[in-house]
Amino acid sequence: MYIKNIPLVFRGSILPKIISMKIGLIGATGPAGKALAARLSSVGYEVTIGSRSKYRALEIRDEIVSAWPEKELKITAAENIDAAKADLIVIATPWDAAATAARSVAEHLHGKIVICMSNAIARVAGEFQPLVPPRGSVAATVQSVIQDSYVAAAMHHVPANELGDLNEDVESDVLVCSDHRNATEKTSELLTKIPGIRPLDAGGLSNATAIEAFSAVILQLNSRYKTRAALRFIGIEEK
Ligand SMILES: NC(=O)c1ccc[n+]([C@@H]2O[C@H](COP(=O)([O-])OP(=O)(O)OC[C@H]3O[C@@H](n4cnc5c(N)ncnc54)[C@H](OP(=O)(O)O)[C@@H]3O)[C@@H](O)[C@H]2O)c1
Repeated sequence: MYIKNIPLVFRGSILPKIISMKIGLIGATGPAGKALAARLSSVGYEVTIGSRSKYRALEIRDEIVSAWPEKELKITAAENIDAAKADLIVIATPWDAAATAARSVAEHLHGKIVICMSNAIARVAGEFQPLVPPRGSVAATVQSVIQDSYVAAAMHHVPANELGDLNEDVESDVLVCSDHRNATEKTSELLTKIPGIRPLDAGGLSNATAIEAFSAVILQLNSRYKTRAALRFIGIEEK
């Protein structure tokens, strides 16, 4: 494995084909959800920005759309409960809110794939440190409260700034783990649509502990080397 800086690669502004799968993001008014909403919309997904407040969601939707007028992004805004009616859900809240947020919209999550991108991290005396949630990871905690949904952990290491800059490819491997094969596959399929991202199947949800914790290392590297580091694994052949 090595960690590389993210190169600047210009992307053209050809409008993408609309993909029929609807994505609902819970807690998408923060940097991570906002960036993912913009990126997924830019590659053709119908995206709903969810928030506890529809007005905040509308504000963020308007910010994204006006930042990229040439992309003609199709993004809607809603309260979390309505965003959860989409086909696939992403949880982008702080780590200690993820399970509660998932449970608050659980009535719409039955049988759906739910991607959790939350990292449990604390900054102690200027240093980033991983926290270990009671079930070992945020994703496992979320899975425990929505047991008939298929939780996948992914997107922990991609910085919001790079993800949300639609003029550039993202250039990163993304580790995906889940106890449900269909969740790993569908999450990987979705991520493959984002130019520069290579999703990698990192096994069962127990590995979310290591994946989430490693985010603290990346943040520490970013801070130490004043950069935005991203993951690239060597030795894995392209299929
Ligand atoms: N930022 C990054 O570069 C990045 C990259 C990869 C992964 N992540 C992970 O992604 C997650 C989100 O990151 P972020 O920086 O976007 O976080 P954030 O700005 O702190 O929070 C995102 C949104 O979550 C909602 N929220 C906050 N507290 C909540 C609560 N108690 N219950 C329900 N919703 C709540 C808020 O939306 P409303 O108030 O509108 O409801 C907030 O705007 C984090 O766990 C982070 O570790 C971040």
